[in-house]
Amino acid sequence: MLDETPTDFERITGLSRRRFIGMGALGGAALFLGGGLLGRSALAQAVSNGSDSALMGFANLAASTADAITLPPGYVSRVLISWGQPLAADGPAFKPKGGNTAAEQLLQFGDNNDGMSFFPWPGDANRALMAINNEYVNYPYLLAHGGLPQSAEDVLKAQSAEGVTVIEVQQKNGQWAFQPGSSYNRRVHGNTPIDVSGPARGHDALKTSADPLGIQVLGTFQNCSSGQTPWGTYLTCEENFSDCFGSTDADLTFTPDQKRFSVKHASADNDWHKHDARFDLSKNPNELNRHGWIVEIDPFDPQSTPIKRTALGRFKHENAALTTTKDGRVVVYMGDDERGEFIYKFITRDRLDTVDAKANRHILDHGTLYVARFDDGDGNPDHPKGRGRWIALVHGSGDLTETNGFASQADVVIRARQAGTQVGATRMDRPEWIAVSPEDGQVYCTLTNNTKRGEDGQPVGGPNPRENNLYGQILRWRETGDDAAASTFEWDLFIVAGNPVAHPGSPNAGSHQIDANNMFNSPDGLGFDNGGRLWVLTDGKYSNKGDYAGMGNNQMLCADPKTGEIRRFMVGPVGCEVTGLAFSPDYRTMFVGIQHPGEEGGSTFPDHQRDGTPRSSVMVITREDGGVIGA
Ligand code: FEO
Ligand code: CA
Ligand code: CA
Repeated sequence: MLDETPTDFERITGLSRRRFIGMGALGGAALFLGGGLLGRSALAQAVSNGSDSALMGFANLAASTADAITLPPGYVSRVLISWGQPLAADGPAFKPKGGNTAAEQLLQFGDNNDGMSFFPWPGDANRALMAINNEYVNYPYLLAHGGLPQSAEDVLKAQSAEGVTVIEVQQKNGQWAFQPGSSYNRRVHGNTPIDVSGPARGHDALKTSADPLGIQVLGTFQNCSSGQTPWGTYLTCEENFSDCFGSTDADLTFTPDQKRFSVKHASADNDWHKHDARFDLSKNPNELNRHGWIVEIDPFDPQSTPIKRTALGRFKHENAALTTTKDGRVVVYMGDDERGEFIYKFITRDRLDTVDAKANRHILDHGTLYVARFDDGDGNPDHPKGRGRWIALVHGSGDLTETNGFASQADVVIRARQAGTQVGATRMDRPEWIAVSPEDGQVYCTLTNNTKRGEDGQPVGGPNPRENNLYGQILRWRETGDDAAASTFEWDLFIVAGNPVAHPGSPNAGSHQIDANNMFNSPDGLGFDNGGRLWVLTDGKYSNKGDYAGMGNNQMLCADPKTGEIRRFMVGPVGCEVTGLAFSPDYRTMFVGIQHPGEEGGSTFPDHQRDGTPRSSVMVITREDGGVIGA
């Protein structure tokens, strides 16, 4: 066990005092991106005006259908950690074919790693913590019988494989590696006690027989992506939580609020309700209201209780992208990933304290939640642009009144989707990750795809310009006055994905940057490095046929925000999604997640043993010459 203890300030911030103050003094959007705390970059000198981007020092990679990580020449990858790896030095070893028990899984790295952050160690450049989401599970591999849970033990194993894993990593000879046995290694999972703070704390809708006060929830699960605060904490985002609920009473009539989250009697993919009454809506309807939040975790205090920050609203949270207003308040941009759902931002009431990090510990409990409304734009088929505004979701203002069903701010945050509908927010093509440019503060958001666009009350137009949107697009907006506090903005579509070979001359060809060599579908993960490169990770169709012919496996691309050029940088193994992105502070190491390789079979990644079980893994990518990734 490692026993080095940071100072109190460092323990709270996860940062050295000098680094934290330096970051606070930078101001604006330059602070919080990509797992590091970034200064203004050399972007201005590096960017050329042509399509031959000076930002990217690698050639576009060909598409691939191999069961392997493919990278440009001179780059190498290796595994940092895989599903089932024990966190303690003497922990239970991973057993393939569902061989581990639920109790063993609780002591191992969770399944389906997704969003993650890198927390530099105060005063030691060779140590760090990483917080890594474990979004959901792959039942064919998690359970020996390969099906949905058939017992309380099966459900417990699934709950034990989801949530968040905190690990210590150390660097030796330029190579970062996982440290089994660190006292900071920790699992936050589907049954971890989590406090509730903010407007919904103690609200009747959160009260259950197990928690009659509505103040402490068991568990976080379906943790998609994440955010990193400048005070050294991790924000994990609860996305498809409602998939874990069902009803043993087949005649139960769901309320409109339950239907807004598409709950099903049979549950979507989990069947937890059959063996854990907490997830049975016929017995515990309020349990549904206790999930769908952003949860704050202090990775430097392994004993700390995570906190659900309800002021940020309840929906299918994708990630949390942080910046500050010009007057120093904290802004959190958030997407709700479901067809036709909304984009939000939250602005804190109080200013970020750049001297006393502890003072920020509860800053996310007070502030204003806004939802985005986009106008129709100019309709330019290759590069539409227009204007938009942020509408405050504040009880008592506008239409958010008791007459309309909102009796309090708790009502507004618990039913944030309904509040957004009430004020006329724009229904989007599945908002996934949001990232703020370190160069100019513009905000980028992946709209991954939307097969319902054009029906179901979702008009075609504005930033959602294609009916039955198969391929997705990357939206961008600039806040008025370049101040994240603004109530208005200008938007454009940075890149529209498509297949120009299968659909030449049609909107499905995509925007002008897309050609036969770099095409992709369903952009999802998104993040900047400190050079201003925009990294795009895909969660799309990998059939490599028909509409998707020529795209190969899911992949990571790199775009130049100034020229709009986009190049393929990495291709993942068979059946995977590429998701989760972080960098070491020197940007010479990239961490990227490979989620659910072989979800439909055909993969043995990464172990490649005969009849091996494929395992979600966090990969470490470096250059053979030790250079900056992507440069
Ligand atoms: Fe977990 Fe919307 O991706
Ligand atoms: Ca995603
Ligand atoms: Ca996705």
